[in-house]
Amino acid sequence: MKYLLLFIGLFFLSSCKDSPKPGIQAVEQTSETELVVDQSHHGKVSIDTLEKYKNLGQKYAATTKGVLGKKLVQAITEKGPDGAVEFCNINALPLTDSLSLVQGAKIRRVSDKPRNPLNKANEKELVFIADFKKMLASGKAVEPILDTTDGQIDFYYPITTNAMCLQCHGAPEEQIVTSTLSILDKLYPKDMARVYQENEVRGIWAISFKQTN
Ligand code: HEC
Repeated sequence: MKYLLLFIGLFFLSSCKDSPKPGIQAVEQTSETELVVDQSHHGKVSIDTLEKYKNLGQKYAATTKGVLGKKLVQAITEKGPDGAVEFCNINALPLTDSLSLVQGAKIRRVSDKPRNPLNKANEKELVFIADFKKMLASGKAVEPILDTTDGQIDFYYPITTNAMCLQCHGAPEEQIVTSTLSILDKLYPKDMARVYQENEVRGIWAISFKQTN
């Protein structure tokens, strides 16, 4: 917690003097990774600032994924997939709330084929999902996308499937067993999140660093 607060403090201090550098490339090569910035709207935000948010976004996505994954595996081990259905809901994670409050960030998880209609990706997010699918198919390292439209910084990173996910997101009656299927049918009558295979883009983390509070 101390570290996070310190980090935020540093950010506010440094954001004042971060003057936009002229001629920033839309895609900047850094020492370790390539930073992908939405090309049309990278505007006046400096690459240093973007780097900071990229790191922060990755940290949030990884932490949330870690906690969620742990809960899911634990629940499946203890109760089987039927009993674990409720544990794939990030809104049920206290962690998501606390991270959001600390940083004024909003953490969402959205999909082009949502199970819960509330998790439906918007137009812009659909474009990024398509980009991530291409990145994954190309076999290249998948990098986050940062979009700086409207003076806010949005971070996007894909959520991919593994074998464990298919118990609830795979083929009905094959990977999703009948009992789980009937629970899903009941809770999510408009479920689109089925028939996935391993290593597919199931959705994205959408973390918005809007400085509103
Ligand atoms: C035990 C069943 C179960 C397992 C296993 C499971 N999910 Fe889910 N998943 C669900 C349910 C139920 C929802 C809807 C949650 C909600 O209402 O927000 C969901 C929602 C999601 C969403 C949000 C978008 C949407 O469709 O509503 C993503 C992304 C997702 N799951 C990814 C995964 C990934 C990746 C894995 C494997 C690491 C996985 N899930 C494993 C049951 C499961």
